Amino acid sequence: MVRKRTSMHGQWSSRWAFILAATGSAVGLGNIWKFPYIAGENGGGAFVLVYLICIAIIGIPIMMAEIMIGRRGRQSPVNTMYNLGIESGSTSHWKWLGWLGVVAGFLILSYYSVIAGWALNYVLETASGTFTAMNAEAVSSTFGSFVGNPMALLFWHTLFMMLTMFVVARGVSGGLEKAVRFLMPGLFIILLIMVGYALNTDEFSRGLSFLFEPNFDNLLYKHQPGGEFILNTSGEKIFTLEYVLIAMGHAFFTLSLGMGAIMIYGSYLPNRVSIAKTSFIIAGADTLVALLAGMAIFPIVFANNLDPGKGPGLIFETLPLAFGHMPGGVFFGTLFFVLLVFAAWSSSISLIEPAVAWLVENKGVQRVRASVIMGFACWLVGLLTVFSFNIWEKVYPLNFWKFKNKTFFDVLDYLTANIMLPLGGLAIAVFSVWIMSRGSSADELEMPENASAYNLWYYMTRYATPIAVLVVFGNLVGLIDF
Ligand code: TRP
Repeated sequence: MVRKRTSMHGQWSSRWAFILAATGSAVGLGNIWKFPYIAGENGGGAFVLVYLICIAIIGIPIMMAEIMIGRRGRQSPVNTMYNLGIESGSTSHWKWLGWLGVVAGFLILSYYSVIAGWALNYVLETASGTFTAMNAEAVSSTFGSFVGNPMALLFWHTLFMMLTMFVVARGVSGGLEKAVRFLMPGLFIILLIMVGYALNTDEFSRGLSFLFEPNFDNLLYKHQPGGEFILNTSGEKIFTLEYVLIAMGHAFFTLSLGMGAIMIYGSYLPNRVSIAKTSFIIAGADTLVALLAGMAIFPIVFANNLDPGKGPGLIFETLPLAFGHMPGGVFFGTLFFVLLVFAAWSSSISLIEPAVAWLVENKGVQRVRASVIMGFACWLVGLLTVFSFNIWEKVYPLNFWKFKNKTFFDVLDYLTANIMLPLGGLAIAVFSVWIMSRGSSADELEMPENASAYNLWYYMTRYATPIAVLVVFGNLVGLIDF
């Protein structure tokens, strides 16, 4: 049996510190910004159901695998995969899985920071009372002219990236722990308040049924975002697993899985902490936040006759409406966007941590400098997203296959969330049960090898998870053409 390693980058002070940090990574723009808008684009209920199933059968097993691998290796994902690959009698080429993650995290952060910048701007706008008593049209056009202004987006993107690199430079197990302790519960409470507000709109039940009543036609047939079916030449609906893939990709995205973020957080996890229990807590909290966000937003959407398939602007065009009309709206609105920024902040640091840790480990670069280098590079790539909403609104860089009519932002989002993360996750699952020995994984999961909990994880990760990912994925690459 291998001697337990320790991480050169430090360790979480306790099990709760890890849970908070990992939940901080998981809960972010994905839950509050992305989940509602993609659920809206893809018809609600059935999409949400598939997303929930993916969390349960793909997300939780892979989260356990990632934490387990991370703690076993105790290094950046690149080096962890390298070492464990050799240690398991396989090859050092598993390090490429680490690299895939580094690239994915890097690309995600590049656009994540731009959207977080929107939230920063909305802190200011809400605080200064811009939305007070505004109607839906004015709220929409405020959003439109904001994202239409490249300089404004650039400014907030730059600021957010600096905030992120500031924390990363100081080491993630330091200051972050303390901040997340207050912010997570705060975010939760304000979401409850928003749901309370939505409860009083006339359309609360319509919002709920949109979210929770599955209509599979809306999910399984090609449609315009949020609307009409696209028909083939003989006037029939066209079957596709594309939206199922989006739901699955989002399960990875929202749980921060498939690129080594949770793996590296696991590498800072003290020994003897139960990985299964913590995974359930993290996934549960993350899912709850997303559902609450949906329950807050859709009633407002329907009460104001807005289009649920509006796309990435959805929360920025709906929530300010509520804040503009509710008592204490300036206060609650400002607080909401502040908390959203913090949620994004605690997520973004986990996206770049694998890259920074690798630079520190392999190139002997000091942490501060490593953060500056990575942050700057990521900021540069972020310009692609900055311009996707204005001067390059009609620029479609890879105009083929799944990337047709997609802006840089759309391409980055599709490529990372729907392709790289599921691929990475699949490889992590395969590694943890087909390459690592049962002895090592059981030891690291702190479960006896004959325990039913262990075997449940083992067989899910060995069969159910890869098959689910492959079927959905196979449709994408056209191997399985329904
Ligand atoms: N999970 C975060 C969110 O929902 C985003 C995020 C952070 C992420 N780290 C990640 C996504 C790693 C994928 C992989 O906002």
